[in-house]
Amino acid sequence: MRFLDDQPGSAARNWLLSGAVWMSTGVLFGLLAAIEMAAPDFLGGYRALVFGRLRPSHFNTIIFGFLSMSLIGAGLHYVPHLCATRLYSDKLANAAMWLWNLVVLSGIVTFLLGYTSAHEYGEYIWPIDILAVITLLLLAYVVFRTIARREEPLIYVSIWYFGAALLWTAVTWAFMGGTGARYGLNDAVWTWFFGHNIFGLWVTPLALAVAYYVIPREARTPLYSHTLSLIAFWALITFYSHTGTHHLLQAPVPAWQKVIASIDSVMLLISVYAFCANVWLTLRGRLWRVEQSIALKFVFAGTIWFFIVSTQGSAQSLMGLQRLTHFTNWTVGHAHIGLLGFAGFIASGAIYGILPQVTGKPIYSAALANFQYWLMLLGTGGFAIVLTIAGLVQGSAWLNGEALYRVLPELGVYMVARAVLGTFVVVAAEIQLWNVTLTLLGRGPKREPLEPAISLFDQQLVEGQEPEGA
Ligand code: HEM
Ligand code: HEM
Repeated sequence: MRFLDDQPGSAARNWLLSGAVWMSTGVLFGLLAAIEMAAPDFLGGYRALVFGRLRPSHFNTIIFGFLSMSLIGAGLHYVPHLCATRLYSDKLANAAMWLWNLVVLSGIVTFLLGYTSAHEYGEYIWPIDILAVITLLLLAYVVFRTIARREEPLIYVSIWYFGAALLWTAVTWAFMGGTGARYGLNDAVWTWFFGHNIFGLWVTPLALAVAYYVIPREARTPLYSHTLSLIAFWALITFYSHTGTHHLLQAPVPAWQKVIASIDSVMLLISVYAFCANVWLTLRGRLWRVEQSIALKFVFAGTIWFFIVSTQGSAQSLMGLQRLTHFTNWTVGHAHIGLLGFAGFIASGAIYGILPQVTGKPIYSAALANFQYWLMLLGTGGFAIVLTIAGLVQGSAWLNGEALYRVLPELGVYMVARAVLGTFVVVAAEIQLWNVTLTLLGRGPKREPLEPAISLFDQQLVEGQEPEGA
């Protein structure tokens, strides 16, 4: 592997590999943080490892390392593939890959040293922000140049999502960069405009794009409806960016902002349910394929988590429920259902589905990948249950005016359970890295070379025809 490789597929492969590396790192910070919640003195108060430094190291590494890099790696494969051309420049996309890795690594180093811009999900300090925006623009350049020279006239919905996510996020990030807090509530509103856009206009479209690509492909059938996919796309754009204030319903921000946020949070379900109906109807009569393709299995599970997290999200955007759940572990549960369940499963599906396509090497062990799937399912399902119950205990105590010192001991058992369940996810992440490494080393089963990058089958999928022999 050269530093700036120009081989077709090399950029996609390197982004996917980086994703697997960062998952295996990011979950370790999560586990340490979880242990501290169960046993506060466990790490002896060592400064770099206090909870406040581990927490941003954990989720920034996971969101911008694991999720972003795996899902971008997938995009660098499906964009040229669906455009029936090659990527505009693997060299530039590889340069972007090194820069983005530098963003994630510098993030970890600065957080552990105690540097932060103190905006949740926008914690990177300004030099790292600048690096991130440059990288996003570089990637957008490569992707849009690829789209411009496409041979396929129809732009499939995955490309819409990927291109849009790059532009939205470059703009949001450029606005948001900078160290230090703004004054008062303005700071909170800006913070959540950014943080919220990272979930809904970055992670979500990147993950949905992969689902739209992997599901029809692995199920060997066209997408149920292209029109429905565009309705979901435009509904996301229309409603999403107004809803950041649903994180601030318990803060004294203007009431009109809260009302818009609550209403549009419910309206978002149009986009969510249109997506779910579309991909699930694509699988109608073909559910058996889920057991045959490990990539499809991960991605399909991700779509179910998406349905759950979004339905829960809309409910908790209403003042009545959120009065009970805000400031509690309920929200931490929601965060993991969304980012680990929905986006994490789809990112792992992207790794297993797309790595063999770009390298021509079969996955080292489908059995290990399946084991990883069950560990992640157990971990995520467990997180959802344990953290939701812990949240309800906290919330009802809060509403009843219970004294904090009487509530905290009640939470211990849930914190221990979270650390144990988290260990499953950590093991899953290390298995994934092992599987990916051995796949790249060519230790997988010896088979016929995989189909070429642009096949008639895929062309027909794009055109919405029933592929021959499907
Ligand atoms: C219709 C869809 C969704 C709605 C309406 C929604 C709504 C909400 C609300 C109201 C909160 C704040 C809860 C509180 O602080 O009391 C929240 C938090 C959060 N949501 Fe969602 N959600 C949705 C989907 C998602 C998805 C798909 C993801 C992941 C990709 C996600 C990730 C998160 C995260 C990480 C937090 C925690 C933020 C924090 O640290 O406080 N949500 N969501
Ligand atoms: C792909 C996997 C994962 C993703 C995407 C993820 C994402 C996140 C996010 C977004 C938050 C902030 C939540 C909030 O404040 O509402 C968070 C917090 C946290 N996560 Fe994870 N996580 C993952 C895996 C894990 C694992 C394996 C553990 C290990 C037990 C873990 C433990 C924690 C802890 C302890 C916190 C801090 C909760 C708090 O502030 O009370 N996470 N994670």
